[in-house]
Formats: sequence, C-alpha cells, structure tokens
Amino acid sequence: MTGLIERWRDWLPVSDATPVVSLQEGSTPLIQAPGLEKEIGGNRRVFLKYDGANPTASFKDRGMTLAMSKAMEEGCRGVICASTGNTSASAAAYAARAGVPCYVVLPAGNVATGKLAQAIAHGAVVVPIDGNFDDALRMVREAVAAKGLTLVNSVNPYRIEGQKTVALEIIEELGAPPDAHFLPVGNAGNITAAWRGYCEWAQKCDQDNGSRRPQMFGFQAAGAAPIVHGHAVEKPETIATAIRIGNPASWTGATNALAESNGAIAAVTDDEILAAYRHLAAREGVFCEPASAASAAGLLQQARNGTLAVKEGATIVCTLTGHGLKDPDTAVAGVAIPDPIPVDLDTLLARMEAE
Ligand code: F0G
Repeated sequence: MTGLIERWRDWLPVSDATPVVSLQEGSTPLIQAPGLEKEIGGNRRVFLKYDGANPTASFKDRGMTLAMSKAMEEGCRGVICASTGNTSASAAAYAARAGVPCYVVLPAGNVATGKLAQAIAHGAVVVPIDGNFDDALRMVREAVAAKGLTLVNSVNPYRIEGQKTVALEIIEELGAPPDAHFLPVGNAGNITAAWRGYCEWAQKCDQDNGSRRPQMFGFQAAGAAPIVHGHAVEKPETIATAIRIGNPASWTGATNALAESNGAIAAVTDDEILAAYRHLAAREGVFCEPASAASAAGLLQQARNGTLAVKEGATIVCTLTGHGLKDPDTAVAGVAIPDPIPVDLDTLLARMEAE
C-alpha cells in the first residue's frame, strides 16, 4: 500500500524535495449500498465512499498528509488548528509522525469523545475554549501570526489539494465520474475539494471536453445551515458536532461547486441524520459518525419528498466522512446496555429468544 501522495503524485504540488509524511491514507472502500438503492428506487446505483477507513478514521487524513509534508518542506516548527474534532485528531497524528508540536483549539463540550482521545493520545496540546468552532478558527488565525506556526485547517490550500484525491479514487473505481456526489458540509472544504478533483480530471482525462462531471449536493445540519440560509449562524447547534459550524471558511468554494455542477445544498434535521446513521449501520453494515450520515440523510430526504434530482439509472456516491467509533456517546445514547446474565447456557438461550 502507498499513501495518497505516492498514488496521486502527478496531481499534487509535490517534488522530490518534499519529505512525505504519510500514514498510508486514502484508497478507502467504495461500498455499494443496496438498502439505500431500494429506498430510493428507479434503478439508481448508490455507493458509499467510506473515508472513515482512513488511518485516523476520517477524510481529514487526505489533506493532512499533504499539508504536513509541505509544512515540513517549508521548515515548519509546529502546527495549529481549530477543530470540531477530526481535524485535530488528524493533525495530532501527522504532527507526531513528523516530530513537530501540535496545538488544537476546540469548542469545549462539543467534540466527540473518540476525537478528543485521539488528539490527546497523539500528544497534541489540547485547548478547549468557551466558544464555538468559528471562534476557535478566528483565534488560531491570530495565534499563527503571533507564534509562527503552520495553520493546518482547510484554509491551508494543501488541505484542499490533498482532499481532491477522493474524486480521483472514485472515478478510477467506477471507471467514470458518478452522476451525483452527496456530501455533508461544515466548513465547506471537502465539497470544494471533491469538486476540484472532478474538474481537474475532466480537464486532463475526459474525451468529451470536460463535460462529464457529477452534480454536487451538499447537506448541512438544520441548526447549523448558514449556506442554506445565505447568512452566518451565530449559535450553530446539531447532534452532528463535526459540522456544528456557523460561518464556513470555504463558503465561496462550496457555492461555486454547487453552481458550476448544477447541484444544490439543503438542510437535514438531526432526526433525519440519526435515521440515516441507523440505516447505514443496521442495513448496510457501515458505521459512520452522525455528521457523515448527513449525505445519506439528504438522499433519503430527496427521495421521500419526491425531489430526487438524480435521474433513473444514475450512479450516486455518498461520502461517509468519519468512522462511527469517533462518537461512541451518540451510538449508545438512548439505548439500554443489557444487564449481564450468569454463565449459564439456558439463561443465554432464553435471553436470545427474548430479543
Ligand atoms: N464530516 C465530518 C466527520 C467532519 O469532521 C467534517 C468537518 C465534515 C463532515 C465537514 O467537512 O468542513 O470540509 O465541510 N470537520 C472539521 C473538523 C470542521 O474540525 O474536524 P467540511
């Protein structure tokens, strides 16, 4: 296995002088989802791009390998980021690998436990703030200037460059671009990046003059949907803490992707997110974190409302951005963990019958 810088070297701004910092990220599974296909009907094919299978269990590793490699090439002394959790976990791991310090600024009480555990395990300096992600991002931008650190949020252009590889992998696997690509949207870097990947592929490789590009569909949580509403949200709220963002840094990148691809952005409620989250785990066998399920929630919402914008027979990809184990608290909230039984076969069989 190679990491994504080796796999996609010709597409990325690297040279022989770039020290590659890699954990063999990318090349994640593209899993067909027969349950979703059945739900939406019309002979449409649905695939899940399971980016929770990256080394730190989220898509952030795609951008982080490049951001960290370029930072080291440029003589980096340490990295810093604001995060709803996954960026901090990824930054902490790649900084540990590169041997430089990592500082992460997080909204206190709104980061899923697994992500916090990762940042701590990888030795980052973790600073929770009494504010939200947008406050944290403002603060780290100022800290960068004061301390001479490298900012590894997706405002770092190398993050977007690395993340565009998701489109290249999907095209290679399907043999062509899909008709539509559904993604969750938070800070809006990932939808910007995926669209860039499709555009660059179309320019370089498409015989039909770059006309074969998917429609991009983004989904924000209803309580944190600034792009949907057309204005910043001061107090974003959602169970999908990864996308609890009120003023996305890559807002323009997202709106360009939506306009150029003839796509759309919509809001999904926390209930819709959780229903899709449960569907993916229980029917497709794919466990993702709540924010990731926003893509499938959007697809199911369109199908239910009769507003499915994707034609019959089309191929749809939903990005699942992070692994379900990132947020164990949501997974077990609202369910009773069963009481133990004695070590006794009859009791076991009775319990099995009762379920
Ligand atoms: N899904 C997950 C699991 C995420 O962690 C994020 C963003 C997104 C979707 C949205 O992607 O920001 O590129 O639109 N997480 C960032 C973080 C903000 O700090 O980990 P986006």
